[in-house]
Amino acid sequence: MATKKKTTLAALAAKKQAGQKIVVLTCYDYPTAQIQAEAGVDAILVGDSYGQVVLGYDSTLPVTVDQMITITAAVRRGAPDVFLIGDMPYLSYQVSHEQAIRNAGRFMAEAGCDCVKVEVDQRLADTVAAMSRAGIPVMAHLGLRPQSVHQLGGYRIQGRTAEAAADLARQAQALEEAGACALLLEAVPPEPARLIAEQARVIVIGCGAGPHVDGHVVVVHDILGWLPGAPPRFAPRYTSVRRQMMRAFKRYVADVAGGQYPAPEHCYPMSEGEADKLERTSRPESPDQ
Ligand code: KIV
Repeated sequence: MATKKKTTLAALAAKKQAGQKIVVLTCYDYPTAQIQAEAGVDAILVGDSYGQVVLGYDSTLPVTVDQMITITAAVRRGAPDVFLIGDMPYLSYQVSHEQAIRNAGRFMAEAGCDCVKVEVDQRLADTVAAMSRAGIPVMAHLGLRPQSVHQLGGYRIQGRTAEAAADLARQAQALEEAGACALLLEAVPPEPARLIAEQARVIVIGCGAGPHVDGHVVVVHDILGWLPGAPPRFAPRYTSVRRQMMRAFKRYVADVAGGQYPAPEHCYPMSEGEADKLERTSRPESPDQ
């Protein structure tokens, strides 16, 4: 039996070197992971966006390590060969180096990740260094960091001025020097993203960062049209799963209400002859017999 080769960080780095784009999608469950793997994604990010797109919170802040470990392990079972990135939730790495390493270790050992992602700027470079020293591959998420939404003053595009862009590039450099094995840039204009991707030796994945980065990630619900409302500007919408699901649910409602479901083909048969036997023995005898 032919076995599929597992995608490694080295394979992703080779794509950067060869000028080939790295394809990343978010994913939060086993069946979607199976489909994404079969479709040919290079890497899956089990993002803490789970809190918003699956659990319905209005930010990622309430997401816990236990929730992330459970869903990340499910994704790993669905996609055993893709490069799997586990997203460390709010306050799972900011409090102390020890907690960061222990929690990251859970993503690696319990959920089968190839790498963990943390939302950082240069103030957390020492945390990235400590995790990296512990043998944990760390992706540094820069630019718009949704876990810092209150500090950033909203979900705002980052690096829009020359000064902010240069600062972002300095942060990227500091985090790479601290040991980050990959960078992720969220909501950054193409120009600073290009500068960062050109200066970085590690792979740079963009999430709304223009075309010049080494690869792209989008939230799967956005490209599938699963939630109401328009997706963010940078996310292509390929279908409306919401419309398809609505159609199917409405048919089910009508079929059950109208008695069309279940039809004979939906019913389990009794063993040969047993239905007649049941009929004969279970009916009360009529009084005149
Ligand atoms: O949580 C997430 O899905 C993310 C991406 C939006 C980059 O961090």
